[in-house]
Amino acid sequence: MTMEPYRKTSRWMILALMSVFVFVGCATLKESKPIFLNKEYEKMIAGRLDADYVGTDNCLRACHFHDARRRNFDLSTMGAQLSRESGMPIVNCESCHGPGSLAIEGLTPEKVAKDAAAGRQTACDYKTLVDMKKIPAQAKSLICLKCHTANATFNLHNWNASTHNLSDVSCSDCHNIHAGHNLKVKPREMTDLCYKCHPDIRASFSLPSHHPVPEKKIFCTDCHDAHGGMAPKNLRKDTVKEACTQCHAEKEGPFLYEHADLTEDCRACHTPHGSVNRSLLNQRQPFLCLQCHPTHQLSSATTAEEKRTLYTRCTDCHSTIHGTDLPSPSGRGTFVR
Ligand code: HEC
Ligand code: HEC
Ligand code: HEC
Ligand code: HEC
Ligand code: HEC
Ligand code: HEC
Ligand code: HEC
Ligand code: HEC
Ligand code: HEC
Repeated sequence: MTMEPYRKTSRWMILALMSVFVFVGCATLKESKPIFLNKEYEKMIAGRLDADYVGTDNCLRACHFHDARRRNFDLSTMGAQLSRESGMPIVNCESCHGPGSLAIEGLTPEKVAKDAAAGRQTACDYKTLVDMKKIPAQAKSLICLKCHTANATFNLHNWNASTHNLSDVSCSDCHNIHAGHNLKVKPREMTDLCYKCHPDIRASFSLPSHHPVPEKKIFCTDCHDAHGGMAPKNLRKDTVKEACTQCHAEKEGPFLYEHADLTEDCRACHTPHGSVNRSLLNQRQPFLCLQCHPTHQLSSATTAEEKRTLYTRCTDCHSTIHGTDLPSPSGRGTFVR
């Protein structure tokens, strides 16, 4: 009985404490509001919400300023989907730029002609369309992703988590929608496209030993998927070794004598793009090998000349450094044959 009031006060204290927490909690919740309201996002992606879709013909009826863009677009794979028989999602100007009724309000051929006579170019009210220059990169990509879902375009499966997406690179940074009727990134133009944002990689490929990317024998996308992937560094294959042995199959193994587990990651000795050292090596020989091995003196090496060779190219003798099925004369695996 005597405990009752005491319990009551402690209950009140707990309640009071809780309300303090709740109050603090609310204050922080209030602070972390989204950068834009949902409505703003929708507007960014759809243009003005009070606008209607009017179709490409209506959009471009009054003036012919965009005829070249239209011609290119009609010839593109996406433009070809305009025919309803294709069964594909219909793609037209408004699929990306948002509904256009407000943009062309009052835009009559007469007005365009009058302006032209006065030496003026009539602009539609393009501010009512999606503002391609201002919307965040991810929102810009969403315009594409509403049709190019991961299911429809398989290589986009990893896009959302990809470094490019997270680094504010959007689809149209690489796929230039209005550059011509070919929306594909052409292999021959790809290197320059990538170098635009990766100038340091261009520098590596100009080093004396390099993969023949500048010679256009292989391409960035042989090893990387621009849309991301499960492996780090946008690699197409799960491991670096797999990425390399797709072309250098003879290095894949397994061999009876392996160089420990080094060849699991070719980067232990090689750099993928370019190097000042021959054979894309991280370091010049013998220093490459001496990082992990002490020097050795063979009893047979007596002349100065013989001794010198020991310190120049270890692989002159250890020629099967990537692994071999043949034991060395001593019966061990020392990669001498
Ligand atoms: C698949 C999406 C897509 C379609 C379809 C499309 N555009 Fe574009 N358009 C873009 C993007 C993205 C830009 C932003 C500039 C860029 O990256 O090329 C753009 C830019 C423009 C611009 C320049 C405006 C600016 O902000 O620089 C004009 C004009 C234009 N488009 C007209 C058209 C017309 C006309 C059509 C229909 C024939 C059309 N577009 C169809 C995606 C599209
Ligand atoms: C309204 C739907 C729609 C939108 C929005 C859309 N696409 Fe497409 N796109 C298609 C269809 C349909 C095809 C043709 C079928 C296919 O190849 O999957 C296509 C094809 C492509 C192709 C392949 C062209 C080829 O020759 O194989 C590329 C690249 C492409 N789109 C990029 C984009 C980019 C970048 C955007 C955003 C700026 C975008 N698309 C927005 C529907 C759309
Ligand atoms: C960093 C540059 C880059 C970005 C960003 C990018 N792509 Fe690509 N995309 C490429 C390259 C390069 C190819 C061709 C080689 C390949 O298949 O990887 C390609 C291929 C494609 C294809 C297949 C048609 C073809 O050319 O074989 C489609 C469709 C496509 N991309 C859509 C998109 C969409 C949608 C986005 C945004 C969500 C996007 N891409 C972002 C570079 C890019
Ligand atoms: C519009 C600019 C832009 C273009 C074009 C571009 N990239 Fe990137 N890329 C970036 C940015 C930004 C990052 C992230 C920061 C960084 O590592 O430099 C990145 C990162 C990468 C990475 C490292 C990924 C990781 O997880 O660390 C690879 C690989 C890559 N890009 C390859 C390519 C290839 C291949 C192309 C051409 C098909 C290309 N990029 C075109 C901007 C671009
Ligand atoms: C022979 C395969 C191969 C080719 C071709 C290739 N890369 Fe790489 N790239 C790699 C590997 C492997 C890595 C990971 C390197 C690491 O983690 O040390 C890498 C890493 C990168 C990175 C991340 C930054 C860095 O230096 O680690 C970028 C960016 C990149 N590559 C861009 C490119 C571009 C752009 C091209 C074409 C001009 C290209 N790569 C061609 C294999 C390749
Ligand atoms: C798309 C095919 C392809 C892939 C993938 C590839 N290579 Fe190559 N590699 C080549 C070609 C082509 C050459 C040049 C051969 C020649 O000129 O005779 C080459 C040459 C080399 C050389 C010798 C370079 C020189 O200067 O003599 C080394 C070392 C090498 N690659 C290592 C690697 C490593 C490590 C990887 C993985 C990061 C890799 N390669 C991935 C195609 C590839
Ligand atoms: C322990 C260091 C080491 C590792 C790990 C290594 N390499 Fe090498 N690689 C070398 C050396 C050293 C040379 C140069 C041989 C010479 O000049 O005599 C070379 C040369 C090459 C060459 C060009 C000459 C040839 O033999 O065809 C290719 C291609 C190559 N390596 C691919 C690979 C691949 C792929 C991997 C991963 C599976 C790998 N290397 C792992 C040390 C290594
Ligand atoms: C990143 C460290 C590393 C580099 C670089 C490296 N190795 Fe090795 N190497 C090892 C390891 C680990 C083993 C296996 C352990 C052992 O038996 O000593 C090994 C084993 C060997 C063996 C067999 C040793 C034995 O007793 O059976 C030879 C020979 C050898 N390496 C030569 C070379 C040569 C030549 C180079 C340079 C082209 C080189 N290694 C570069 C780490 C390295
Ligand atoms: C003149 C030829 C020759 C040169 C050059 C050479 N080696 Fe050797 N190396 C051998 C022979 C032969 C063996 C013993 C082979 C056997 O097991 O039967 C050997 C054995 C080894 C072993 C196994 C352990 C040991 O000492 O027996 C290692 C590790 C090794 N070499 C590393 C290197 C490194 C690192 C270099 C470069 C600094 C190098 N070798 C240069 C011929 C050479």
